[in-house]
This record gives sequence, structure tokens and C-alpha cells, in this order.
Amino acid sequence: MDIHKLIPIPSRRRFTNLLGAFALGVGTTMAAPATAQDHQYSAEQIQAGYRTYVSQCQLCHGSNGDGIARVSLSRQQFPRAVTDDDIRMAITTGNAAGMPPFALKADELENLVAFVRSGMDRTGTEFRLGDARRGKAIYEKAGCAACHRLDGNGSRTAPALDDIGFIRRPGQILTSLTDPTKGTMPINRSVTIFTADGRTIHGRRFNEDTFSVQLIDQQENVLSINKSDIRRFDVSMTSQMPSYRGRLSDVELADLLAYLVSLRGK
Ligand code: HEC
Ligand code: HEC
Repeated sequence: MDIHKLIPIPSRRRFTNLLGAFALGVGTTMAAPATAQDHQYSAEQIQAGYRTYVSQCQLCHGSNGDGIARVSLSRQQFPRAVTDDDIRMAITTGNAAGMPPFALKADELENLVAFVRSGMDRTGTEFRLGDARRGKAIYEKAGCAACHRLDGNGSRTAPALDDIGFIRRPGQILTSLTDPTKGTMPINRSVTIFTADGRTIHGRRFNEDTFSVQLIDQQENVLSINKSDIRRFDVSMTSQMPSYRGRLSDVELADLLAYLVSLRGK
């Protein structure tokens, strides 16, 4: 039997930030997105914004929104813009770095902002961002820390949320809150491992390679198990997370979502 305890827990945030910086090929001195706003972005707006984006913006900003240095439209990283108004202004005035001014109708501008704010979500999952400060209080009240870790507090049995607003789109985060099983990323599915010597381990897999699996068990132990020691490996298709649709009002969900979207690592 070969189960190693690993200490300390690898920082998922550092890892994903690395990937992010790599994908963007840029530094990190960029304005954070706005957090205090209350805005509904509909599926129609997001999808119409996508069409305008393809015809007007994609040539320079690319199909993933990261075609221009220092700008990632999908990850909400802009050299100057912070609020939705700033984004509208950036589009209508252009800039000295080579972006022409665009004369667009008000609704076309709205749609573009919705598309950018959605993290360039072509599926157009609608979402509403409320007040991030109230959302923080809801996070605490709702007991998310019973499973999640954030800012060094809470359990490690579910994924840490410190950079959730950076690594997931708003629509994906909302889906996790309202329909967790649908929102689960494959790597976050809980697993049950039956070892050759007869042990059963339930946990959350956070890494896997050809020869081993790393997971956090329900007592928050970090384990590495050699695949050659595994007799059976079950992956659960059902999330352990409760749905908050109905438990939280639409306004509370919008506030909570604004808070989660604002969490972008350090
Ligand atoms: C001809 C190339 C070009 C086109 C077309 C273009 N952009 Fe840009 N855009 C740029 C460049 C270059 C910058 C970077 C400016 C800088 O580094 O200061 C930029 C910056 C931005 C920013 C960040 C502004 C800020 O002040 O923080 C936003 C938002 C943006 N573009 C959105 C759009 C949208 C939406 C469209 C389509 C309507 C579009 N751009 C079309 C070249 C372009
Ligand atoms: C009973 C444990 C539990 C509670 C309570 C819980 N979650 Fe979760 N959550 C999980 C698990 C397990 C996952 C990973 C599987 C998944 O994505 O469904 C998860 C996933 C997530 C994700 C997606 C993570 C990713 O990387 O994609 C978000 C966002 C999230 N939870 C937010 C919350 C918030 C906010 C609360 C409180 C309102 C909460 N959770 C309460 C267990 C829980």
C-alpha cells in the first residue's frame, strides 16, 4: 500500500495564475473589474454582443479576447476600464494604441458590454450581478465555508474559491450555485477509491497523472495514491454541493455572484 501524505497543500491559485499569465503573455498590472453594480445581462444581449464582436472586434482582439497585449476581454483585464460605462466609453472613443472609435447604437454597445462581462460566453448564460459587499455577507451566512476554503478560512473538502472569478465565467459560477451537478468541472467530481489492500477512500481529486492520483479526503488529509495500488476507482456524477436556487432569493444570488466574480486571487 502506498499512500503518501503530502504537505503543504499545493496552491491551486498559484498554478492557475501561472496558466493565466501564460495564456495572456502579459504582466499583472491591470485594473480589477467593477464590483459595485447591479446589472442584468440577458442571453439575447450576450448573443447579439457576440455577433457584433465577431464583425467589429475579433480581427484585433481575437476569438478568445486576448489578441491585444495587456487586454483580456474574456478575463476582464483592461488597462484602464473598470465599470461598464468605462467599457462603453473605450469603445466609442477608441485609443491611441490603435483602436478606432466605433459609432454604435446604444443597444449594440449594451450588448457588447454584456458579451464582455459574460467572459465572452457564446452560449449566452444569462446572469445578474448585484452588490459584492452584500454578497460577502451572504457567503458567510449561507455556510459555504463548511466545504470551501477562502482567504485561509474554511474546509478543504471542496475547491478553494480565492480565484474563482478569474478561472470561471460568471455564467459558470451561477450554474454551480443553482444547478451544481450541471456546473461541476470534471476535475472536481468526487471520487471513491477502493485500494488493493481493502481500504475505501472518499474525496476530492485535485490532480491526476499517468501513475498516481492526488486527493483530499473527507477529513481534509491530502493523499497521493499510486494507480497500481488502486483496485477500483469510481467517479461520482452528482455534486455534493446543495443547490441554492430557492434557498437564496434572486437578489441574494445576484449579490453572491457579484462577490464570487470579484474573487480573482492575489
Ligand atoms: C484595430 C484594432 C482594434 C479593434 C478593431 C478593436 N480594438 Fe479594442 N483595443 C485595441 C488596442 C490596441 C487596445 C489596447 C489599448 C492599450 O493598450 O491601451 C484595445 C483596448 C480595448 C479595451 C480596453 C480599454 C481600456 O481603456 O481599458 C476594450 C474594452 C476594448 N478594446 C474593446 C473593444 C471592442 C468591444 C471592440 C469592438 C467594437 C474593439 N475593442 C475593437 C485594438 C482594437
Ligand atoms: C456540502 C458542501 C458544500 C457547500 C455547503 C457548498 N459547496 Fe460549493 N461545492 C462543493 C463541492 C464538492 C464542489 C465541487 C463539485 C462541483 O463543482 O459541484 C463545489 C463547487 C462550487 C463551485 C464551483 C467551483 C469550480 O471550481 O468550478 C462554486 C463557485 C461553489 N461551489 C460555490 C459555493 C458557494 C458560494 C457556497 C455557499 C453559498 C457553496 N459553494 C456551498 C461543496 C459545497
